[in-house]
Amino acid sequence: MTTNQQTLTVEEARKRIETLTREVEHHRFSYYVLDRPEIADSDFDKLFHELEDLEQKFPDLRLPGSPTQKVGAAPSTEFKSVKHRIPLLSLANAMNYDDLERWQERLVRALDNAKHDLKYVCELKIDGLSIALTYKDGALVEGATRGNGEVGEDVTLNLRTIEALPKQLKPLQLGDNEHVPALVEVRGEVYMPVSSFNALNKGLEEEGEATFANPRNAASGSLRQKDPRKTAKRKLGLWTYFIYVTDDQIKQPTSHFENLELLRSLGLPVEPNRHLAPTIESVKQFCKDWDSKKHDLDYQTDGVVVKLNDRSLWDQVGATAHSPRWAVAFKYPPEEVDTIIEEIHFDVGRTGAVTPVAWLKPVKLAGTTVKRATLHNAEQIRRLDIRVRDTVVVRKAGEIIPEVLSVKVEKRPVDSVEFVYPTTCPVCETPLERIGNEVVFRCPNSFSCPSQVRRRIEHWVGRDAMDVDGVGESLIDVLVSNGLITTVSDLYRLTEEQLLSLPRLAKKSAQNILAAIEASKTRPLANLIFALGIRHVGTTGAEVLAEKYQSLEKLAAASADDIAGIEGVGPAISVGVVEFFNHPQTAKLIDELKHAGVSLETSASEDDSAPLPQSLAGKSFVLTGTLETMDRDTAEKSIKRRGGRVSSSVSKKTDYVLVGASPGSKLAKAQELGITIIDEVQFRQLIEE
Ligand code: IVH
Repeated sequence: MTTNQQTLTVEEARKRIETLTREVEHHRFSYYVLDRPEIADSDFDKLFHELEDLEQKFPDLRLPGSPTQKVGAAPSTEFKSVKHRIPLLSLANAMNYDDLERWQERLVRALDNAKHDLKYVCELKIDGLSIALTYKDGALVEGATRGNGEVGEDVTLNLRTIEALPKQLKPLQLGDNEHVPALVEVRGEVYMPVSSFNALNKGLEEEGEATFANPRNAASGSLRQKDPRKTAKRKLGLWTYFIYVTDDQIKQPTSHFENLELLRSLGLPVEPNRHLAPTIESVKQFCKDWDSKKHDLDYQTDGVVVKLNDRSLWDQVGATAHSPRWAVAFKYPPEEVDTIIEEIHFDVGRTGAVTPVAWLKPVKLAGTTVKRATLHNAEQIRRLDIRVRDTVVVRKAGEIIPEVLSVKVEKRPVDSVEFVYPTTCPVCETPLERIGNEVVFRCPNSFSCPSQVRRRIEHWVGRDAMDVDGVGESLIDVLVSNGLITTVSDLYRLTEEQLLSLPRLAKKSAQNILAAIEASKTRPLANLIFALGIRHVGTTGAEVLAEKYQSLEKLAAASADDIAGIEGVGPAISVGVVEFFNHPQTAKLIDELKHAGVSLETSASEDDSAPLPQSLAGKSFVLTGTLETMDRDTAEKSIKRRGGRVSSSVSKKTDYVLVGASPGSKLAKAQELGITIIDEVQFRQLIEE
């Protein structure tokens, strides 16, 4: 609603500007980030113009970072450092019930063995990442990650995308009045629901992108997105477990259970399965009960946090440098179950390495049904004497692939026979080889073994390789099994018609896939070398080789000695490279790639030695802070290659200070001396000029 601005006093204007700023910010966020506008565009415009008018009439009252100053752009996160008003401590662990009892005994001793009726609050320990929230006069003003406990990162905008997180606290009922505490600090855990995690990974897999190992990593990755719109799509959850209130009118809670009630009264989400335990026995029972019930929840818990309920005793028992003594984290052990090995299969990787995998009688483990477990290699099978139909112990620690830990020999069927490792490739039947003293067996049929072909193509399209967006494992599987591709060069011969003949592939997707394949033709030489999947050549090795040889053909012609002579390249790489290029199929592959139009050499734009116009000749630069769109080395190289100088300190002679995130004292010095300060966008413009 518009106010009559003519009649406003300065104080009224201040209040109105504050309200409008908050409202406009809120609606900009709903519109740009959440994609969920709450009001009509015309109503938003009214609010916006009222704010603009008021700011024009009372320029001194404009708030820093006012939305009128950043028109049109979607809000974006800046990970500035935030010093926590109250440090975020961690917790000591109790690995078993004895540890829990010892923790209780220490508490009693710290309280001089005085007769206290100690009660404990048990909360599920949510496996996510801890965050600190600050509310002023009820409004969320800051949200930060834990960082090192003292200083974290400002992720306010990303946190604001979490639906469960109130942006405004509910007022408390104090007698007949409603009251919002002046300053509220909240601690809690952001998590990714298991269902969202599974959906996210499925999507990433289909897009051929790297998946997250577990929901905690996924939550952490999502909260640290630069673009809050991406965080908004990740559907994060929140449970809060601590509150610190600074307010004259509010009685401080005297127990932790009341703490949790206060959080709830203010509208903050609190995990519902908390329990006020009258004895340590009751704590143990809670831990025991939840050990089996925890997998029914849609979030992961890795233990139970036990806190002394009586807050007045917290100071008495005190804290170590890292953790308070009045709380402890009971951790559930990695989970193990017994099951039966039904079959032993072999996975043939991109380099021909053959990995044995146990196909298990499906069994519930850590919340999921496990059907496979890795047996690592032939040595492991022999050492544990693993046989088909054996009962084995399978373990899953965190979310990593389950492994077979041991065999229950006493349950072995009488007619079981020792497992004989195959001598031929289980996919293409070529005799397996063992190179030198490697423990792995390999299939040497690199170019025709269907499993290797599939894996090689998967590697080829990967992000560090040719980065072909939209071509993932499942599409490759379909392409290979339909006979559309047998080598990576076949990718470049695919037609829209062929793609449309595949089940469930729409025209738009087919066009996107072809565009992505086309775009991959001009990847840097280092990516191409890595993409070829030469044994022992990782991303770093590929970079060194690309830098030295500048073209695939020159690399192919190099001798083992020549390659081994390069700094940072060992004999394994040089042998791997020479063997790869000696293979009769390699020449054919390179020829096909060349014909397809794949760039096989360093392009002029990557070539550091190509001459450039000396547009920055005589100019002196100082860099400060973390650059977000390029690394520091690249920025410095760009300056030097254009004739500029890079210096480490700001002086009157400095021409430009390039400022990234969290700049140091150099920025202040530059401002003091009136030196031109530029950000990354301006820097790019300067370079491109
Ligand atoms: S209390 C000073 N309560 O576990 C006490 N922590 O191992 C600070 N966590 O850093 C933590 N659920 O990230 C507390 N209900 C809960 C929790 C919880 C998960 C996490 C938190 C903390 C870590 C300590």
